[in-house]
Amino acid sequence: MSSYAQHLSTVSARFDEALAATGYDAVIIYAGQPRYAFQDDNPYAYRVNPLFKYWLPLTHSPQSALYYKPGHKPVVFLYQPRDFWHAQVAIAAGEWQQHVDLVVIDDPLKIAAHLGDKLKQAVLLGEDFAEPASSWPVSQRNPQALLDYLHYQRAVKTAWEIDNLRIANERATRAHVAARDAFFAGASELGIQQAYLAAIDAREIDMPYNNIVALNEHGAILHYDIYQHQAPQPVRSFLIDAGAYYHGYCADITRTYTTQTNGFFAELIAAMDAKQRGLIDSIQVGQSYADLHVAQHHNTAQLLHDFGLMNGSVESILAQGYTRAFFPHGLGHLIGLQVHDVAGHLKNPQGELHERDPNHPFLRLTRTMEEGQVFTIEPGLYVIDQLLEPYAGNTDFNWQRIDELRPYGGVRIEDSVVASASGKHQNLTRDAFAKLGVR
Ligand code: GLY
Ligand code: MN
Ligand code: MN
Repeated sequence: MSSYAQHLSTVSARFDEALAATGYDAVIIYAGQPRYAFQDDNPYAYRVNPLFKYWLPLTHSPQSALYYKPGHKPVVFLYQPRDFWHAQVAIAAGEWQQHVDLVVIDDPLKIAAHLGDKLKQAVLLGEDFAEPASSWPVSQRNPQALLDYLHYQRAVKTAWEIDNLRIANERATRAHVAARDAFFAGASELGIQQAYLAAIDAREIDMPYNNIVALNEHGAILHYDIYQHQAPQPVRSFLIDAGAYYHGYCADITRTYTTQTNGFFAELIAAMDAKQRGLIDSIQVGQSYADLHVAQHHNTAQLLHDFGLMNGSVESILAQGYTRAFFPHGLGHLIGLQVHDVAGHLKNPQGELHERDPNHPFLRLTRTMEEGQVFTIEPGLYVIDQLLEPYAGNTDFNWQRIDELRPYGGVRIEDSVVASASGKHQNLTRDAFAKLGVR
């Protein structure tokens, strides 16, 4: 059986289990459709329903749908409008077509006409803000119990999904290398962004999230996505957080560079890189990801101490909660069909949640790590003035050293990792860089 066929068999078994457990008979998964700007006829970028692309490697087929009833082949309604205004994305012959009953429609209203009474026994999964989905006579719309069940299962990836994530990482690292080269050649943030996109023949709407392309102090703005047209003078540092898609699966990669050949910021990048690798090596399935996040706070305290950014012992830096001012975001998140993949806090498929630590409100993943889960590991350390303001005048902080770091913004290193029970975790990002000869 091919890897995709095995994936489909896992997905249908997961749906069988989830439907049986929540008491539903069948699903209709709507691919979604573009939304239009207010009082305008220009649509926003379309993003396919993740539960639709879970089944099919189709990301550009709005107003299509998949109907699935356990024990039967899925029926795919592929919308191919007769439209002389727009070009259609060509649907290539693909293996998926062997595994479904394919119904090509030229009008989305034909979905309901084709399914007839079956629609009344089905649950809708997807957006329904407009026709045709808004008037489907389904039994329920997006019931939380079914969504929780399906989302919980998605954390563990099939071999086909891991292949897609690997290829997404290979695409993104190719672009990262081009962006790095553009940085060292003196390009502006916009110039670097253009080099990134050109390296993988992509448009901005083909990115899974807005690339963060940040020079100097912009590196401290966690989701910086305004690109300056001129490079600053002097150029000191570059933080890039940028991804790519493959078959709808996401890469999410961060690297930090500096023009310093030696000096403390170059050393800080190297030290963070070593801590990040160490953390990945320490992962044990069965352990809570939240504990890994806390372990990184120990690392942060150590770095703050070693680089002279704070006075006092590592233990006291940690105990006072100072590390949270320098590392305010979570260590990482599940990744897959969505960059921030769903169900990061679910304890079980029944929708029970892990308890959250109020000291770490931005941590997106608190689950127990399991073989086959894919998540990011993305420690960072930044000078964020808003978070330092409450400590003004506090002599535990070495303000002179912090002033030296501020013009560099900060450092973050982010990889995607497949957890393994053997302890030999697959680092999709480093493996992809290594293929390009980059360490
Ligand atoms: N690029 C967003 C994140 O790293 O979570
Ligand atoms: Mn991330
Ligand atoms: Mn990222």
